[in-house]
Amino acid sequence: MPDPTSPLTRRPQWTALEDHRAKTDGTHLRELFAADPERADRYTLRVGDLHIDYSKHLITDETLTLLRELAAATDVSGQRDAMFRGEKINTTEDRAVLHTALRAPADAVIEVDGENVVPQVHAVLDQMAAFADQVRSGAWTGHTGKRIRNVVNVGIGGSDLGPAMAYEALRPYTDRDLTFRFVSNVDGADLHEAVRDLDPAETLFVIASKTFTTIETITNATSARDWLLKGLGAGQEAVAKHFVALSTNAEKVAEFGIDTANMFEFWDWVGGRYSYDSAIGLSLMIAIGPARFREMLDGFHLVDEHFRTAPPEANAPLILGLLGIWYGNFHGAQSHAVLPYSHYLSKFTAYLQQLDMESNGKSVQRDGEAVDWQTGPVVWGTPGTNGQHAYYQLIHQGTKLIPADLIGFAKPVEELDSGLAAQHDLLMANLFAQGQALAFGKTADEVRAEGVAEEQVAHRTFQGNHPTTTILATELTPSVLGQLIALYEQKVFVQGAVWNIDSFDQWGVELGKVLAKRVEPALTEGAQVPGLDASTQSLVDTYRALRGR
Ligand code: F6P
Repeated sequence: MPDPTSPLTRRPQWTALEDHRAKTDGTHLRELFAADPERADRYTLRVGDLHIDYSKHLITDETLTLLRELAAATDVSGQRDAMFRGEKINTTEDRAVLHTALRAPADAVIEVDGENVVPQVHAVLDQMAAFADQVRSGAWTGHTGKRIRNVVNVGIGGSDLGPAMAYEALRPYTDRDLTFRFVSNVDGADLHEAVRDLDPAETLFVIASKTFTTIETITNATSARDWLLKGLGAGQEAVAKHFVALSTNAEKVAEFGIDTANMFEFWDWVGGRYSYDSAIGLSLMIAIGPARFREMLDGFHLVDEHFRTAPPEANAPLILGLLGIWYGNFHGAQSHAVLPYSHYLSKFTAYLQQLDMESNGKSVQRDGEAVDWQTGPVVWGTPGTNGQHAYYQLIHQGTKLIPADLIGFAKPVEELDSGLAAQHDLLMANLFAQGQALAFGKTADEVRAEGVAEEQVAHRTFQGNHPTTTILATELTPSVLGQLIALYEQKVFVQGAVWNIDSFDQWGVELGKVLAKRVEPALTEGAQVPGLDASTQSLVDTYRALRGR
C-alpha cells in the first residue's frame, strides 16, 4: 500500500526521475522522432471525441514508466477513487468533492454522509430546464408583461468564468434572439456597459454566487436591482420576475430579497471553480437549451468515466498531469500555455487559470507541512493565431521552457459562409505549423543552406525541442466542450494528488478580501486604518488627493 505521507522528493520514484532527467538531458525531439517511426501513433490517445497527440514531448517510454511509478507511489488512483466515492478529500474545509456527481446519469448512486445526491442533482437540472424553456419560449415575462430578451449573469470567479467561457464557446448553439451579458467586476463600468443599452422590462438578472456573500457580486446585484426598479418605476414587487439566484445559501438569497422559489440550488461539495455544470450554468442553459446542456454534461461524464476506468498507460488526464509534473518538477518550467485555435475558445484559458491556479497554487501539504517541490504552474495563453503575432517569439527563441497545449477543430462552425469557412484550413495550418516549429525548430545548418549571412545565422536559428500536446476534435460541440473541461479538471486533480496538496480549498484569496474591507473606509472617509504600512498609507493619501477629497 503506497504511503501518501512520506515526503515526495525523497521517494525513490522521484529520485529515479531526477536521474533519468540528467541522463536524457540534451536529447532532441528530432532524434526521438528519427529513432521511432511509430512514435506519433504510440503517443496518441483517443478519448471520446478527443484526439490527443502527446508525441511532441520530451519523453521516452522510460520517462512514462517512471512517471506512472510516481503516480502509483503517491496513490493517485486511490485518491481518485476516494473523490468519486464522495469522501471528504477537501480536508481543510471538511467537504466532499463531487463535481463528478453533477454530470452523473440519473440512475447513478453517489453518497455524501449516507445520502444519495444524484436525485437532488437531477431535480435541480429539471427545475433549471423548466425555467430555461419558459424564458426561451417567451412564457416567462417580466413585471410589465413583456417577454425576457436579455439575460445578465452577475457573478465572479467560478460563478462567472465557467458560464461566460461556455457561452462564448457554444455561441453557434445559442438562441440568437436573446442577448447574454456577464458582469463580474466590482468596477461599476462593468455593469454600466452591460446594461446601458438594455430595456429593464425585458431583462432578467441571474445572480450567481455559491456563498451569496461575495462582495463584488452582492454589490453588483444591488446596483442591478436599483437600475431595474428605477428603470421600471416599480417597487420591490418587480424583483420576483427579474431576479433569480444560483446559490447554496437560501438564507442570504432571501435576505437579498429574491424569492427562494426563484433559487436554483447547489451544494457545498461543488467547488466554485468546478461549478458551471451545476445550477451556476443556468444562463448557459437558457442560451443553448436544456438538451444541449445535457449533451455537455454527458461529455463531462464520458471523460470522468475514462479517468476512473482507463488503465494508466491509456489514461489521458493521468498522462497529461504527469507530463506537467515532468516539466514543472524536473525541467524547471514555471508556466504552461494553453493555445486554442478557435475564436470561440477566447475565454477558455482564462477559465483554466482559475481551475488550475486556484486549485494547485498551494505551498503546504495536506497536513500543513511546507512543500519543498514546485506545485501548480502559471497558466496563460490566448487563441491562435493572434498570440503568434505577440508572444510566440518568446516561446520559440526565449530562454524559458514553456510546455503548451494546442487545441483545434477539424470543422468550422456551420453558420460561416463558404468564404469564411475556407479560412479554417489556414487557421489549422497555423496550429500544425506551430507544433512542428516548436518541436523541430530549424538548425543553424538549415539556415546557412538558405544562404543566410553568417552573422545572421544565430538570430534565425530555432532550437526547437519545445514540448506541445495537440488536442483535435471534429467540431466544438457542447459534448466536446464538456470533454475538454473534464480533461483539464482531472489533470489538475492528478497533479494535486501527486503533490499532496488540497486542490479544493482556496485560502489564498482571503487575505486580500479582508484587507480591502479594512482599507475602503480610508478611501471614502479618510478613516485611519491601524497598522497600515507606509507605502499603502501614502498610496491611500495620494488617491484621496487625486479624487479631490
Ligand atoms: O475568491 C475566490 C472564490 O471563492 C472562488 O473560489 C469562487 O469561485 C468565487 O470566489 C466566487 O464565489 P461565490 O460563488 O461564493 O460568489
